[in-house]
Amino acid sequence: MAIRFPVPNQGLLLSLLIWSLTYTTLATLSTPQHDDTLHIPDIHYLTTLLSPSAQLLLPTDPNFNTTLDRWSTSPLNAPRPSLLILPTTESDISHAIRYANSHDLPFLATSGGHGMNEYLSDLQSGVVIHLRNMTKFELASSVDQGGTVAVLGGGLLSHQVVEGLWREGKQTVMGMCGCVSYSGPALGGGHGTLQGRYGLIADQMVSARVVLGNGRVVVASEEENKDLFWALRGAGHNFGVVSEFTVRVHDVEENRRNWAWERFVFGRERLEELYTLANEMMEDQPELVNVFSSWRILEELDPTQPMIVFIVFYNGPMEASREYTHPIHDIGPVDYRSGITELPGIDEVLDIGANEPQCQSQGTVLMRGVYVDRYEIDALRHLFDLLSDMLATEPALANSRCVLEGYSVQGVQAVPSDSTAFAHRDKKLLFALIVGHRVVGNSTLDRDAERWSKTLETAAVGSAERRVYVNYALGDESLQAIYGYEPWRLQRLRALKRKYDPNNRFKFFAPILRGVIDGIMATETQT
Ligand SMILES: Cc1cc2nc3c(=O)[nH]c(=O)nc-3n(C[C@H](O)[C@H](O)[C@H](O)COP(=O)(O)OP(=O)(O)OC[C@H]3O[C@@H](n4cnc5c(N)ncnc54)[C@H](O)[C@@H]3O)c2cc1C
Ligand SMILES: *[C@@H]1O[C@H](CO)[C@@H](O)[C@H](O)[C@H]1NC(C)=O
Ligand SMILES: *[C@@H]1O[C@H](CO)[C@@H](O)[C@H](O)[C@H]1NC(C)=O
Ligand SMILES: *[C@@H]1O[C@H](CO)[C@@H](O)[C@H](O)[C@H]1NC(C)=O
Repeated sequence: MAIRFPVPNQGLLLSLLIWSLTYTTLATLSTPQHDDTLHIPDIHYLTTLLSPSAQLLLPTDPNFNTTLDRWSTSPLNAPRPSLLILPTTESDISHAIRYANSHDLPFLATSGGHGMNEYLSDLQSGVVIHLRNMTKFELASSVDQGGTVAVLGGGLLSHQVVEGLWREGKQTVMGMCGCVSYSGPALGGGHGTLQGRYGLIADQMVSARVVLGNGRVVVASEEENKDLFWALRGAGHNFGVVSEFTVRVHDVEENRRNWAWERFVFGRERLEELYTLANEMMEDQPELVNVFSSWRILEELDPTQPMIVFIVFYNGPMEASREYTHPIHDIGPVDYRSGITELPGIDEVLDIGANEPQCQSQGTVLMRGVYVDRYEIDALRHLFDLLSDMLATEPALANSRCVLEGYSVQGVQAVPSDSTAFAHRDKKLLFALIVGHRVVGNSTLDRDAERWSKTLETAAVGSAERRVYVNYALGDESLQAIYGYEPWRLQRLRALKRKYDPNNRFKFFAPILRGVIDGIMATETQT
């Protein structure tokens, strides 16, 4: 167990002294009735329970802020803990949770640090259990699954998984961005490049080991705790800390190693023509194709007005892609590029590779995401004009964008809707509205960003019923929009909360129970 202090190599006695001095403030704030000295042996006891490679970090540690660093560091949606625990084993997670509970400290697990839900900022003066060193990666053959499964630690990042599998000639459904975790997307359903063939990220799950809110470890699968397994696949952030997943992986066939990509850039005046065509192309979009639009400023073309970047990925040769995309060429892009990559390189084509600036901390970022069935041309025109207005009136928000995600859906729709907590299998497109800036400490600007993000989202919904992807939910959406309008869905989720998380410890990411007074299951007020 390594305690990290500003000056390394302190003797244990001095370490504990510094620890107790720092910790006293925390303990006094949260449990004022306790005698401070009681907590020194407690901390010492915690350190003896954790494994030797686990780490504890306090705010005074120079590494505290860098370890906590996240995609969005805004006070609107970043947690502000008083203690960071970096477990390396499952029992470290259990001990961390029991420790937090016994001191009435709220806790939250994080892995890739890309979550943007505003409930995250409710975690104040508590414990962040940062899973980045939970990096188990094992392949095993499974007779039950008729092939290979991978055992993936709860803290692995997407690029670690995609690269690790690729080296073994394997692949699985995976988020697009290398620096996002495997777990975060998976627990909310999870969209990824191969979903057209195999279904959502969550659909690959065979089982998960879950540390519950009382520190107890359970397995969730079709055989054990089947109801929890159902909830984990779409509402997982609300139920526990997953120390590891066992997931189905697939062989990479020789003729499917390559992804042809084509990137078209269009000016705003082509919007109607382009998306009328895109609607037609969507009707027979092969399961091997993903279509993305990103509306944003491209400095080199126009520093003030957003452009339409339209990208098609085809899991196959360029000729096949060209056959599918030839009508887009006919519209006349102002810029066109193409290339061949493999699965681990796709994020770089999208400028969200693990080493790209887009993957680093971005200041304030607010993301929302809504599902729709088609490109509704009038709504898109309105949305585009609003984005232009926003960028013109508030230059600080220049890094904002709208991303229209047209993953193929065959594999997702092949899975019965009621078989998992993910409620939006029938939807065809996911629109992400991303509003952000890099100015620190300007709350007026933060509020502006918040307001614009809502305005863009409302325009993106258009005339559709509001349906929200939980991993893109900002926090003010209705529970039905996130978890499904069928009444049985929320009823079941609430019943499962009572069973598996009766004290509502997991409430800092798209919480199912809102307005709940500590530990009491009050009737939540629906928004
Ligand atoms: C650039 C970018 C690209 C994205 N691409 C995709 C994509 O391709 N597909 C997609 O589906 N989504 C995508 N997302 C959305 C993504 O699913 C969410 O941002 C998600 O919250 C990120 O998870 P994280 O672990 O990186 O973030 P964190 O902030 O570390 O975690 C978010 C929440 O997930 C929960 N959590 C994380 N790990 C665990 C665990 N092991 N056990 C229990 N709970 C856990 C916790 O509640 C935590 O608060 C993208 C987001 C960004 C910013
Ligand atoms: C934890 O992860 C960090 C960052 O990836 C790494 O530098 C460190 O060595 C890891 N520690 C352990 C004990 O694995
Ligand atoms: C960490 O960040 C906080 C909040 O931004 C700041 O107050 C503190 O001084 C920083 N700590 C260190 C050690 O840099
Ligand atoms: C905060 O940002 C707004 C909008 O850009 C700007 O008008 C204002 O001057 C900024 N305030 C401060 C204190 O910098």
